[in-house]
Amino acid sequence: MRASQIKPILFTLCLLPFASLTFGIIQNDLGPNPVEAALHATGEWSLRLLLITLTMTPLRRMLGQPWPIQLRRMLGLFTFFYASLHFTIWLWVDQAFSWANIINDITERPYITVGFMAWLLLLVLAGTSNHYSIKRLGKSWKSLHRAVYVAAIFGVLHFIWLVKADWLEPLIYALILTILLAVRLFFRKKPQSWSIKHA
Ligand code: HEM
Repeated sequence: MRASQIKPILFTLCLLPFASLTFGIIQNDLGPNPVEAALHATGEWSLRLLLITLTMTPLRRMLGQPWPIQLRRMLGLFTFFYASLHFTIWLWVDQAFSWANIINDITERPYITVGFMAWLLLLVLAGTSNHYSIKRLGKSWKSLHRAVYVAAIFGVLHFIWLVKADWLEPLIYALILTILLAVRLFFRKKPQSWSIKHA
């Protein structure tokens, strides 16, 4: 399989939640609380895409093929896109750009603090995902981009912290992230050739 064949399909699939949200807004069909619905959809999609991005490295090792790595950047940028949409909806519709309230919420409400930290990390990762940064940062680029795991931990914590009753969904995300972190540790201990022998 080639990344160039998968990329256009993946790009379209990643745009579908945005298209569905836009359609819902135009049709006035987002339910009784459209702001909450938009916040939930964008928050969930950024977390889902972040976890999908994290599966690309183990997938490459397991399949012994390069295409998962070639899709990682696009998935990461879509994660940042949905997280920024989520943040913008909160800043604009929820907070009406009232900077005093915004700073107060970011510093006083723990679930907002970790969500904001996750977004800041995603901003840095998206900003340094280009070829120029990869060249300039050299070896430290890889270390910097390991922060994607920290962003995912913050994203999951943000979700766990904000739910009041229904714990099932955030706990499923936490379980998936734990498995991905365990797989990462497993591969770190194994030599690179493991995937080729077992592919
Ligand atoms: C920029 C900082 C962020 C702010 C201010 C923020 C704010 C919010 C707010 C106000 C909600 C709705 C809370 C409620 O229903 O009571 C929410 C939900 C959520 N956010 Fe964020 N968020 C931020 C960043 C992120 C990031 C980076 C992610 C993912 C990586 C994320 C994932 C989620 C998820 C999964 C939900 C729950 C959706 C649901 O209830 O189904 N958020 N966020």
